Amino acid sequence: MLQGERILLVIGGGIAAYKSLDLIRRLQERGAAVRAILTKGGQQFITPLAVGAIAGERAFTDLFDPRSEFDVGHIRLARETDLVVVAPATADLLAKMAGGHADDLASTVLLATDRPVLIAPAMNPRMWEHAATRRNFALLAADGIACVGPNAGAMAERGEHGVGRMAEPLEIVAAIEQLLGGNEGVKPLQGRRVIVTSGPTHEPIDPVRYIANRSSGRQGHAIARAAADAGAEVTLISGPVDLPDPAGINIVHVETARDMLEAVEKALPADVAVFAAAVADWRVAAPNTRKFKKGTEVPALVLAENPDILAAVAGRKSKRPALVIGFAAETERVIENAKMKLARKHCDWILANDVSEGTGIMGGESNRIHLVTADGVETWPLQPKREVARMLVSRIAAALARPS
Ligand code: C5P
Repeated sequence: MLQGERILLVIGGGIAAYKSLDLIRRLQERGAAVRAILTKGGQQFITPLAVGAIAGERAFTDLFDPRSEFDVGHIRLARETDLVVVAPATADLLAKMAGGHADDLASTVLLATDRPVLIAPAMNPRMWEHAATRRNFALLAADGIACVGPNAGAMAERGEHGVGRMAEPLEIVAAIEQLLGGNEGVKPLQGRRVIVTSGPTHEPIDPVRYIANRSSGRQGHAIARAAADAGAEVTLISGPVDLPDPAGINIVHVETARDMLEAVEKALPADVAVFAAAVADWRVAAPNTRKFKKGTEVPALVLAENPDILAAVAGRKSKRPALVIGFAAETERVIENAKMKLARKHCDWILANDVSEGTGIMGGESNRIHLVTADGVETWPLQPKREVARMLVSRIAAALARPS
């Protein structure tokens, strides 16, 4: 229920704007009062008249409209609300928000507000994947802006599929309820300690070269974020990644597998440990202290096995977290291999995913998970890594709440 909540809805210029009319209705049904701002682009898709008729108050459109400034004014619009929702949040709006622009009513209000902001991105999948959008999105996430979607599926452009569809109105409503309820309600992981490993490890060959892998750290970082949002005290132990340090989370930066193990052991005890890092299986047994010179002999690298951090923690007699969760990135017989890994490493759950070439999962934005536990296998839909993180965190909360 959203009884008495005031929501300011910013409607950007995308075809998904038609769903925003339904969103207003769904919010009102739950008792919320909705005010709407339509950007110039938004007005190409739906009219201020339609928005005003549904919201029960005229839609706001112009920064320098003397009537708006006299009645309400952009600062009041920004403040007289409990939450600002941007739906659809276009690539352009995200860029403006990330850059702190204020050249129209929507961007000015977004810069002037001190209230929580939720974005529901909607754009063509290529725009969503573009490095500029990734960069802007990472900045917004680091600023603490909440996000719902985008979902995978068919695009308005005929024949196009991918991640970029705006979340459905009821999904946006659920995210709003969680955000507004979450501020005062009980957080499901309050008082719990969670360790997350993330990213690759770098194993030195000599002072300038190293062995690495393609892990981006996106999934691990998203899990740390979701656990912290659910109230947990999170320690994120990360290999070298290009992601900003998430706010409000203890972060330990490490390079090698052995450093990662040491950091994990230092972070114990914990209720839950999630091992999302792609730890290098081998290291160079004796890294050269000086740079190998080209043109002489080709160095023959002798490798040594790295410690298995997941297996080490899952097998501990003391300070073993109640829930030890591993990942299994496989390219074939995904579920079968994950089941074997669950047994071999003595962990509680394995999140298995297919990272064969062409799935775009390694380093990508979305993930399809098979959750393998002693009770069986459950396949989740292909969804953004952030959603995978949220689903995992609610599973964790439910498992910890069950009497053992
Ligand atoms: O055996 P494999 O590398 O496929 O297992 C993957 C799982 O084990 C992941 O959860 C990964 O974080 C963890 N792992 C680890 N230490 C290693 C190798 C893998 O924690 N040395």
